[in-house]
Amino acid sequence: AVAASNRLRQRANWSRAVAIVDEFREAFQTPMPLLKHVVDAMVAEMHAGLVREGGSKLTMLLSFVDSLPTGDEHGLYYALDLGGTNFRVLRLQLGGKNGRILNKEYQEVSIPPDLMIGSNEELFDFIAQRLGDFVAQEGEDYNPHGKIRELGFTFSFPVNQTSINSGHLLKWTKGFAIAETVGKDVVSELQTAMVRQGLQMRVAALVNDTVATLAGARYWNKDVMVAVILGTGTNACYVEHADSIPKWRSALPKSGDMVINMEWGNFWSNYLPKTQIDEALDKDSVNPGEQGFEKLFSGMYLGDIVRRALLKLAKEAALFGERVPSKLSLPFILRTPDVSAMHTDESSDLEETSRVLSSVFGIKSSSLQVRRLIVEVCEIVAERGARLAAAGIVGILRKIEGDCVANGVANGEVGKVNLANGELGKLIGNNKVNGRKTVVAIDGGLYEHYPKFRNCVDSTITELLGKDAAKDVIVQLFKDGSGIGAAFLAASHSLYR
Ligand code: GLC
Repeated sequence: AVAASNRLRQRANWSRAVAIVDEFREAFQTPMPLLKHVVDAMVAEMHAGLVREGGSKLTMLLSFVDSLPTGDEHGLYYALDLGGTNFRVLRLQLGGKNGRILNKEYQEVSIPPDLMIGSNEELFDFIAQRLGDFVAQEGEDYNPHGKIRELGFTFSFPVNQTSINSGHLLKWTKGFAIAETVGKDVVSELQTAMVRQGLQMRVAALVNDTVATLAGARYWNKDVMVAVILGTGTNACYVEHADSIPKWRSALPKSGDMVINMEWGNFWSNYLPKTQIDEALDKDSVNPGEQGFEKLFSGMYLGDIVRRALLKLAKEAALFGERVPSKLSLPFILRTPDVSAMHTDESSDLEETSRVLSSVFGIKSSSLQVRRLIVEVCEIVAERGARLAAAGIVGILRKIEGDCVANGVANGEVGKVNLANGELGKLIGNNKVNGRKTVVAIDGGLYEHYPKFRNCVDSTITELLGKDAAKDVIVQLFKDGSGIGAAFLAASHSLYR
């Protein structure tokens, strides 16, 4: 009788689990009509954010980058890349058009988590010290011949720039929370920390990682118009016509262009499918109410969304037995690479999934049926994210395209559009005119190391654009642009140009 009642209970639990996953599938779904609304909302918010400060949750920050690398840059430059779980220092020897990158050395340092929520001085001292150690390893041939060393500083947080090498931190994101830094000029914070370390170096350019990625990709391919980060955080930037930026009050730059750091992590629209899980995750975060788009899918959060879903299944459907495994309640214990590992598990008995369950949550045994359900949860969460990221990208492409139409290109007024950007081709059948395409450069671990996520981003972009239009767009992984690109921009903004 006991066995029979156990079996009954198990069966009821299993039906409950299946019903919960059905509810997830429903709540997380992103059908085409919804995605199209998200595309439109992105375009509308882009316009609103360009009109005036505070015009939209999409801050559309001016980068002060009005010309991008050409490949002619030469000399020795440093870059410092701070923005996620690691920071990197980089030394680059550039040889101009013919030599390109003559030498590249770098070091990656993980940031002690307590520094992310500690004091301003401690964080910048730590960075300056590591940079100093790296500079000290410079070989003889790197002697800058009496010139002061110059640095491109990639600082991947929202910054209100006042020039190419100054800007005030608007807020922290991605788990950093050091109140005293907010409002400060991060370049002078770094410069004073460098002085404290006895390190002589000039910050020539302050850039967001999206902008550095755009610069890094442009160095090799002049059709790159958009750069997207799908990593710990998520964001995008693109090349905008300066006269389409009403809030830009200064003289138009010579190039007529300005790179805009969208800070799309903070994008919001009521069309976005926000579930109870997302609400709880936001409430428990260090920055509730902020970075809504980012919290739906970036690498920092994806694992925790899945963890929360599994916790619900454990609590309400005893998915892992009568006792809920305690580790399931630990925030951020499940990382996005673990989700990728389970989602991409193609072994017939889902061995990789067992491994993750055991190593992360201490769940030593699970049935194949249960593991299948877990893989499905990963798929539901990741697909929503990838499809929303794709909608964001298509929004940017539409904005660029819309401006072409507004400028009269559709009526054949070719002269008004910069042919080099491939914008025109996209509108009027590119091969006939100039054979150029619009390139979207993507970097970040989520895109690079999570193949199912990447494939879903790529295929959704094609689906949204339509097969024909999609032929004129190239979406490409550009690795390490965020460090290298900053060094290129340091070169183009050097004192010794
Ligand atoms: C966060 C930051 C943003 C950065 C992105 C990717 O969204 O606010 O500046 O570009 O993460 O690293």
